[in-house]
Amino acid sequence: MIIKDAKIVLRNRIFDGDLQYERGKIKRIGKNLSGDEKISASGHYILPGAVDAHVHFRDPGGTQKEDFESGSIAALAGGVTTVMDMPSYSGPATTTIKALKAKLKLAKEKSCCDYALHFGATQNNFKEVKKAGKLCAGLKMFFSKSGGGMQLSTRKAIEKHFETFNRKKPVIIHCEEEEAIPENAEELAPSERATARSARAMMVGISKACILANGRKLHVAHATTAEEIDLAKSFPNVTCEVTPHHLFLSIKDLELLGNYGKTNPPLRREAERLALWNRLDSIDIIASDHAPHTRKEKESVSAPPGVPGVETMLPLMLTAVNDGKLSLVRLCQLMCSRPAEIFGLKKKGELAVGKDADFLIVDMNESWRLHEEDLHSKCGWSPFVNYGMKGKIRSVVLRGKEAYYDGKLLIKPGYGKLAR
Ligand code: DOR
Ligand code: ZN
Repeated sequence: MIIKDAKIVLRNRIFDGDLQYERGKIKRIGKNLSGDEKISASGHYILPGAVDAHVHFRDPGGTQKEDFESGSIAALAGGVTTVMDMPSYSGPATTTIKALKAKLKLAKEKSCCDYALHFGATQNNFKEVKKAGKLCAGLKMFFSKSGGGMQLSTRKAIEKHFETFNRKKPVIIHCEEEEAIPENAEELAPSERATARSARAMMVGISKACILANGRKLHVAHATTAEEIDLAKSFPNVTCEVTPHHLFLSIKDLELLGNYGKTNPPLRREAERLALWNRLDSIDIIASDHAPHTRKEKESVSAPPGVPGVETMLPLMLTAVNDGKLSLVRLCQLMCSRPAEIFGLKKKGELAVGKDADFLIVDMNESWRLHEEDLHSKCGWSPFVNYGMKGKIRSVVLRGKEAYYDGKLLIKPGYGKLAR
């Protein structure tokens, strides 16, 4: 199959030409390619499928909020062809090899998009972590209670994991330091809570992680301020990520969103949000931290933190490209090639000969509005409902097969494969 006359987003430039793929792989990229089957993409862009390195699909343990099927359909609808799923907190927690293998089986049966799994660190699962090195993409560690009780609370345990886990793969850290969060933070109203659970708690955790890492690969999840990014990026072995909600929302939005905007780490002040956009050149990746919770949970007094995002992340960033905030080439580095590179997914993230034919056909000129009824996540809401977007994903191709077209899913659960 040949896609003709497209604007093809390569690693460092946009190439006007054709893309040919065969048996699920990209075969040729060039001018005037000839072959039997062709489709014209004149006027449209071809982007690599996005790779989201940070999603919580809640399967097993929280399938009333999301499961591998609903989460992966939401991913495809949002142009994400590969997800990396964070450890489940229960059902059982992804902190043993047995649980990891059971989750791999579950993803294989239910996922529509390609996937890799992250493993969870606990105070004492060192033997399991050592064995997990081959099977997972990264090791997730929490410095706060945010991660369903998976908190690492002693220096000894942190250091032991840093030494034990596969050196070629990153340890991913939720850096909010519990000791630096006021004890009453969770009793406060949304905007006071956001201020109390400060960026300082992130700075303390990032410093601790980077120093204890002693040169090993580390990945700082969801940095929220320019200062955190500068600190993390002053260490050559450390990569970092920013979420769309920290780029597009601030404490100001909590007035309307209430607990629907409650997340860890929290939204920051408007000035800090704006400053994040000036760091798009120094961060490594954008990842959604897709953390769905039901409406019922979000409307309760002790609402859990987390916002969904896997389906809206790319449309929001395409809109930012149209607003002149970054180039399409940079967007694809942040959301496709770099996440694949950091987590060792060799066939993903780039339009190049030999890579998996995972790509999106995008109309950059189409304006549209996000409607709640069009969302695919089981949670059924998004803080970005009613947002005006510009840049529409027309078609999503995964390993050479059209998986999503014009709002319709064209493949079945189980099509998704483990990405390595
Ligand atoms: O807001 C958050 N929600 N932060 C986390 O660290 C966990 C996540 C979740 O799993 O709901
Ligand atoms: Zn997360």
